[in-house]
Amino acid sequence: AGEYRLLLENAQQLVLVCGRGEKYLLQAGAERLAVLRHASVVVGRDGYIKAVGQADAIRNQFSGASFERVIDCSGKCVLPGLVDAHTHPVWAGDRVHEFAMKLAGASYMEIHQAGGGIHFTVEHTQKATEEELFSTFKHRLERMCRAGSTLVECKSGYGLNLETELKMLRVIERAKRSMDIGISSTYCGAHSVPKGRTATEATDDIIHNHLPKLKELKLSGEIHVNNIDVFCEKGVFDLDSTRRILQAGKDTGLQINFHGDELHPMKSAELGAELGAQAISHLEEVSDEGITAMARAKCAAVLLPTTAYMLRLKQPQARKMLKEGVIVALGSDFNPNAYCSSMPIVMHLACVNMKMSMNEALAAATINAAYALGKSDTHGSIENGKQGDLIIINSSRWEHLIYQFGGHEALIDYVIVKGKIV
Ligand code: NIG
Ligand code: FE
Repeated sequence: AGEYRLLLENAQQLVLVCGRGEKYLLQAGAERLAVLRHASVVVGRDGYIKAVGQADAIRNQFSGASFERVIDCSGKCVLPGLVDAHTHPVWAGDRVHEFAMKLAGASYMEIHQAGGGIHFTVEHTQKATEEELFSTFKHRLERMCRAGSTLVECKSGYGLNLETELKMLRVIERAKRSMDIGISSTYCGAHSVPKGRTATEATDDIIHNHLPKLKELKLSGEIHVNNIDVFCEKGVFDLDSTRRILQAGKDTGLQINFHGDELHPMKSAELGAELGAQAISHLEEVSDEGITAMARAKCAAVLLPTTAYMLRLKQPQARKMLKEGVIVALGSDFNPNAYCSSMPIVMHLACVNMKMSMNEALAAATINAAYALGKSDTHGSIENGKQGDLIIINSSRWEHLIYQFGGHEALIDYVIVKGKIV
């Protein structure tokens, strides 16, 4: 065994996405993304980055040191591992039949109100065994990883009843413990109002039964959930129920990270800023005041280009958000409605449809996405002391990761988590 775990030598371009937290987030908005040429990076046996810099300097600094693995990166690019800030990856019951309905003109909410959509997936997920759910989830995570994701937010929310929500969270916990890819888990019991109940009944059940159970399971060390989510939408959970659930979640120690202002303006952004939300997703219908409030509260906006594309929604105003100083992050929103697990495709769509630059899209899919999960101190950039999560692409310009539209399995040579090739 070597003294160090990994040396990536002499990359043509090494994209640092440098800096920590707030200072860098502003720099990314101003498009100052640091790219080193002929650069190397060293990861220690603890999985953390020990050095990054010019190849010659690193060679001198580490002459005589031994490495478990050395990869010659000549002519290639090294980037931070991608962070996917929003996914729904645990479910049974795909909705390919609904894709056809949507192409024929049905809207997302029409299908939902007719008992399809989330309800359809909930029925199948409730019936599935934990083993079945784990095995499909594992494959989906592996697929995300092959597309460059090294840290992924994973939501529950196709259970709705306590029993199935816990089944989903146990499945996520099992992946957290057994797989290399990083996971931030989210309880999304308020993803939809269960059939036969009112939103108020569902809200009370979550506050009085679900959240206390999650607290108990955290104390016993069985399941550790990181975030709380609500689908704040007209005909789903209104602003008042959303407030009650998020506040109760925050009181049990969960980070707030929720769906808001997607199909209708709901003042979700204003609410999130007021409650100290770490992030709000979607925001196609956010108000100007909401954008200002999010910038001031340093609440990240998680934009989801696949959903806006799939449902032909109005695009979220990424340019306005960036101009106002909002921390803009990206997510795949992988779910049975938007079946895309590839962050390179998400970045491409963000550039073309939301008019983001490639630098902004990369920052949004690395450091800012890590921020949305409360993990920008340890993830999302290549610098000393951060986790050694890296990708190597076989191109001499890093922008190929965004420019190429699909087929990234052929572009990405290695995906590395904590200095380990996965
Ligand atoms: O983020 N909008 C609500 N939730 C998901 C969709 C979930 C589903 O349709 O199954 C979203 O797009
Ligand atoms: Fe979602």
